[in-house]
Amino acid sequence: MTNHSSVFTGQARAHTNIALIKYWGKKDPDLFLPMVSSLSLTLSAFYTDTRVSFSESYTENRLLVNGLEQTGKAKESLDRFMSVIGSKMEHPLPIHIESFNHVPTAAGLASSASAYAAMTGAIAQALNWDLDLQSLSRIARRGSGSATRSLFGGFVEWEKGTDDLSSKAIPIDDGLWDVGMLALVLNDKEKTISSRDGMAKTVATSPFYPAFVSSQDSDLELMKKAIKERDIVSMGEIAEHNAMKMHATTLSAKPPMTYLSPDSLRAIKAVQDLRNSGFTCYYTMDAGPNVKILSPASQQDDLIKALRQIFKDVTLVKSQAGPAMRYLSDEEWQELY
Ligand code: PMV
Repeated sequence: MTNHSSVFTGQARAHTNIALIKYWGKKDPDLFLPMVSSLSLTLSAFYTDTRVSFSESYTENRLLVNGLEQTGKAKESLDRFMSVIGSKMEHPLPIHIESFNHVPTAAGLASSASAYAAMTGAIAQALNWDLDLQSLSRIARRGSGSATRSLFGGFVEWEKGTDDLSSKAIPIDDGLWDVGMLALVLNDKEKTISSRDGMAKTVATSPFYPAFVSSQDSDLELMKKAIKERDIVSMGEIAEHNAMKMHATTLSAKPPMTYLSPDSLRAIKAVQDLRNSGFTCYYTMDAGPNVKILSPASQQDDLIKALRQIFKDVTLVKSQAGPAMRYLSDEEWQELY
């Protein structure tokens, strides 16, 4: 914490994550208690650096992302989150936030996950909170559900829990073995339906939603077993099945919707073809058109070469397991930005 005449500042870095077992749907929209437990891999290649400052001289909350002032939904989401933070402060103060996303914003690469995880870390540093990562994961949850998992590195489970205290992230494996995730960035434009709105509409209207929920626990248990055994084939089969069940709930919502684009379907077909030709590779997608490909890290370079034949102009980014949230010092921040 740095205190310049009642300005409290803090900085942190958090990596984004990709869900192998999806969170989709809230049981309690205020507390962000999910309908299902989920599991993700924190990614080494995508992260957010955030600096926050609290001051009596500020008149309102402000958020700059990559230098751009945020208004509309992003600002509303921040104000909601800050009322939660304010309730934990003796004298709530407005916040100014500067965030740098090393990830395409809102393109289904879960930038809200790294954003709220980094923001929570920076706030904890600014306010001198002596909290462990699990306690911080519960706070980050109130900004964005998926942020809960981004406090930790490697494979992380979000136990749905039954209340604010029990809904939290648990690291299950550091992922520091031959496993990787390749991101096929088909579209880095902002998505049209936020995950918040998309999941609420799905829960309310899709007749398939109960089936997604009731099969989640067995998917999760099988995935945890496969991770423990480092069995990428089983992990991939379960991840594809789970992702498509989630996307089926949006297709069956009223009115129907989808996050998948024609290019996403081409990419899915490409992954299936590459698998038939001998690669160990499996797809998953979050609430956006981009496709992420699970494979042994040692196959990523060859996969990139093969995918380049089909997708000439798309960005392909290699990731392995990323680390937990970490605090950044004033000096590090000055050097970086
Ligand atoms: O917490 P949000 O609003 O980023 O929603 C995340 C939803 C998915 O990315 C589709 C699934 C997940 O578990 O991350």
